[in-house]
Amino acid sequence: MNSIKVFSPASVSNVCCGFDVLGFSIDGLGDELIISESNSNKIKIKRGNGYDVPLSADENTASVAAQSLLDFLDINRGFDIEINKNIKPGSGIGSSAASAVGAVYGVNKLLGSPLKKHELIKFAMQGEFVSSKSAPADNVASCLHGGLILVNNRVKYNVVNLPVPENLYAVVHHPHIEIKTSESRVILPKSVDLKTASDQLASIAGFIHSLHTADFDLMRLVLSDYLVEQYRSEHVPFFNQIKNISESKNVICCSISGSGPSVFSLVEGKNMAKKLKSIYDEVYIKNSVEFNSYVTPLNAKGVRAV
Ligand code: HSE
Repeated sequence: MNSIKVFSPASVSNVCCGFDVLGFSIDGLGDELIISESNSNKIKIKRGNGYDVPLSADENTASVAAQSLLDFLDINRGFDIEINKNIKPGSGIGSSAASAVGAVYGVNKLLGSPLKKHELIKFAMQGEFVSSKSAPADNVASCLHGGLILVNNRVKYNVVNLPVPENLYAVVHHPHIEIKTSESRVILPKSVDLKTASDQLASIAGFIHSLHTADFDLMRLVLSDYLVEQYRSEHVPFFNQIKNISESKNVICCSISGSGPSVFSLVEGKNMAKKLKSIYDEVYIKNSVEFNSYVTPLNAKGVRAV
């Protein structure tokens, strides 16, 4: 095998109460990478289709990630990467993570899988650094493993796949406005007080328990963000309007995906998710903002060869 096509999904990070540590992959939206062995000993971005990506190998998240894998393995081979970029950069749904993960996953496969999937995370993160300049692996881990994940950024990016109750769905809206993760992190406070930290701990602990017990009432009761949403919400178009609607519809939670501008709601049942999607769609349509919207289960698959 000297060529592979990889599908690498978009993802929602933070998931209300899990700033930088929770994420889930989105069904049906992702970047496609076609990776072929070349005669050179370099990684090249041969072509980018769809949304714009840097073509310089030092600046592209996919090539930087793949090169860091080759450097670690001390392998002097070259690969051409063609990217069908379907996830808009600056969307808050893991655009850079998807390309970085797709590249390391594909190159590792072409090398005969010298590393296991969970070992690829730190190389994908090298690509993520180039683009978002931040260290959390919430999007990268969601894209790599699929499903709903908890990642510990301090302990070698250890990842836990959390149980997902049947019927847990998300509605994701992506208005076509760019917010850079690096800029969206600058507006956050550098420290929080003990009460805020304690509230957030209670929320995430309750959420994890509710996943294990499939307790949607508990989920609805405890899921809140005390750390970042309040600082970012004014930069996310129509977020307050969407959040007000979500409260009137008794959704499980509604929050900003990653650093925005995408927003998402967790709901019980696919039909409810579809209904809510149409209601939120109207907000963007009425305001003449281009957008895409998705309904996804929280146990969608991660990166894969197609
Ligand atoms: N969790 C990050 C943030 C985005 O909210 O800034 C992706 O790593």
